[in-house]
Amino acid sequence: MKAIVQDRYGSHETLRLAEVDRPTPANGEVLVRVCAASVNAADWHIMRGDPRLARLAMPVAFGWSGPKKKIRGRDFAGVVEAVGPGVTRFRPGDEVFGDLGFSDGAFAEYVCAGEDLVAAKPAGLTFEQAAAIPLAGNTALTGVRDVAEAKPGQRFLVNGASGGVGTFAVQLAKSFGAEVTAVCSARNADLVRSIGADHVIDYAVDDFTANGRRYDVVLDLVANRSLADLRRALTPDGTLVLSGGGVSDGGSLVGPMGLTIAGGLISRFVRHRVRQLNVAPSAANLETLAGLAESGTVVPVIDRTYPLPEAPEAIRYLELDHARAKVVVTVEHAA
Ligand SMILES: NC(=O)c1ccc[n+]([C@@H]2O[C@H](COP(=O)([O-])OP(=O)(O)OC[C@H]3O[C@@H](n4cnc5c(N)ncnc54)[C@H](OP(=O)(O)O)[C@@H]3O)[C@@H](O)[C@H]2O)c1
Repeated sequence: MKAIVQDRYGSHETLRLAEVDRPTPANGEVLVRVCAASVNAADWHIMRGDPRLARLAMPVAFGWSGPKKKIRGRDFAGVVEAVGPGVTRFRPGDEVFGDLGFSDGAFAEYVCAGEDLVAAKPAGLTFEQAAAIPLAGNTALTGVRDVAEAKPGQRFLVNGASGGVGTFAVQLAKSFGAEVTAVCSARNADLVRSIGADHVIDYAVDDFTANGRRYDVVLDLVANRSLADLRRALTPDGTLVLSGGGVSDGGSLVGPMGLTIAGGLISRFVRHRVRQLNVAPSAANLETLAGLAESGTVVPVIDRTYPLPEAPEAIRYLELDHARAKVVVTVEHAA
């Protein structure tokens, strides 16, 4: 089968389309014929081995000179081709979507995934829309529902609202009844309003940490501000949620992990709740997101699609930090 593979850390130019063996489903795994996959910040972090501290801190994904797994990509949607021993929830022909976690391998014609990482594709969504959901949707759901504990009337700010995670976070916070302020550039103001933002701050003309307004929750998906700045935007007992990601200047030892480490250190000593967003793949959360997508409460927003051979360009586009919501890779299969 064809797949996008990588041997050593580097730019998107280290990725290449190659012929590799089709995987065989092990115990508890399904083999999925991939129809679409989506790109996440995690893909370029792992592609580059960046930040370098992650090579020590996250050995499941990061080797020393190259990623642990050769094939990139973690979000996918497709059709079950075969099932391994012990699989009870799926059978060949089922339309599914899932998040491989650090197993990676979605930028390929076929992928094996544990059945606990997979859910039925939301009815009425295309494979591209379904593939756009898993990691970004799960991150937003975990951040908004579980960490921030969004509720009606809460003043909820999303920094990085027009990105992959941000577009889900805006919709989810709205669905919990929060009053949502979206921070993005002017060119994305209409987009974030169209998915429910009550207020929009153009970061080029207004600094949300210095304009005197206070929020019950700040969900930071950009990591371009200091903890002191971010906390200045909070009400006295407000919650700061740090995504652990960040803009892709790259090349540093700790990168945005510095902000989350500092956040963890101060969290015991300050009145504000300062929380890290730790997200694990979850079939239960995929099912929740599928239900929200089926009811129209959450709509995956897709910026661009790229065919599988152009997945390196898709990652490059996301790396530039200005994707509008999700970037999707489509996979053609010979008839
Ligand atoms: N903890 C976890 O498990 C976890 C999981 C998933 C993701 N993450 C992290 O969450 C972060 C967001 O992920 P994502 O997929 O949403 O990234 P993304 O799609 O690449 O984000 C792109 C968006 O960032 C916005 N942006 C760029 N500079 C900005 C600035 N200075 N102020 C406000 N917005 C700005 C852009 O808006 P404009 O074009 O309008 O500037 C663009 O829409 C990433 O850093 C990622 O590493 C963490």
